Amino acid sequence: MKIAFVGKGGSGKTTLSSLFIRHLATTGRPVVAVDADINQHLGAALGLDEAEAAALPAMGERLPLIKEYLRGDNPRIASAETMIKTTPPGEGSRLLRVREDNPVYDACARPVELDGDTVRLMVTGPFTDADLGVACYHSKTGAVELCLNHLVDGRDEYVVVDMTAGSDSFASGMFTRFDITFLVAEPTRKGVSVYRQYKEYARDYGVVLKVVGNKVQGQDDLDFLRAEVGDDLLVTVGHSDWVRAMEKGRPPRFALLEDTNRRALRLLQTAVDATYELRDWQRYTHQMVHFHLKNAHSWGNERTGADLAAQVDPGFVLGESVAANA
Ligand SMILES: Nc1ncnc2c1ncn2[C@@H]1O[C@H](COP(=O)(O)OP(=O)(O)OP(=O)(O)O)[C@@H](O)[C@H]1O
Ligand SMILES: [Mg+2]
Repeated sequence: MKIAFVGKGGSGKTTLSSLFIRHLATTGRPVVAVDADINQHLGAALGLDEAEAAALPAMGERLPLIKEYLRGDNPRIASAETMIKTTPPGEGSRLLRVREDNPVYDACARPVELDGDTVRLMVTGPFTDADLGVACYHSKTGAVELCLNHLVDGRDEYVVVDMTAGSDSFASGMFTRFDITFLVAEPTRKGVSVYRQYKEYARDYGVVLKVVGNKVQGQDDLDFLRAEVGDDLLVTVGHSDWVRAMEKGRPPRFALLEDTNRRALRLLQTAVDATYELRDWQRYTHQMVHFHLKNAHSWGNERTGADLAAQVDPGFVLGESVAANA
């Protein structure tokens, strides 16, 4: 199951991603955590110290390796150089699974231990000015998008991505790559405006979008969010002393997280798990092709000097059965 946490800067994406990751880890399910946020803080929120976080390999710097591996012997992709972030898999491509070992995880993922359970953590690497805005082919999140487009995840396997609700993810199609998207919103006009914008983009793509209210302090906050986002409001989280203690570098055992917040995390998982039945791999594959053609046309063909539309394998549909046969 692929889950995105998005929202305005400072809303609590990283905090809630990390709590959800910790929660999933306690269930014993395999988890891949991905930091694709502009501010790279997921490692710290999962308890890494500064040196450990700084030592994490950056996916953005390992793109050639990722491309070379995923390309496999797909005859439609002549070289890793002609592979862009939206290049879809086809016959011969290598696919990624959550539970396996593979060269992409070897190069980009590091184990993080959480109260005795271990998750894999991957990070895009810090963003620079050149990564932001219009120069979308510089995007570090491209490495994440490539991996998601080649990933076949099953029911009890989780990939949790902490990301920005930026224009980059809309241009590339990244926002359509998830079973569910949790939009973290504080009960403020700004928090809610990011939700509206996201909803607008999401509308035509069948994106499952749920709002998680954060730093919600009372009935007035709750009423505000209800009035602004209606049924899209899934759950709210209040101020957490556990989180504050963690921020001080003294994380209590996760079992000591407040009951209300624990309940909220269980609710998130229930919402995630319920989307399994809604999965449509055909649509998922069509969407990646749609965004690939769009990117090929707007910059990819020119940049690579190749006709990137020819990379599309018309008969290929990603899915759990494809992975089983491979
Ligand atoms: N429920 C909460 N209880 C206590 N503190 C919280 C809570 N949610 C967020 N915070 C604090 O608010 C600050 C911002 O949260 P966080 O870093 O998770 O936001 P973000 O959306 O990831 O921000 P950025 O856009 O900078 O990446 C952090 O100091 C975090 O510890
Ligand atoms: Mg963050």
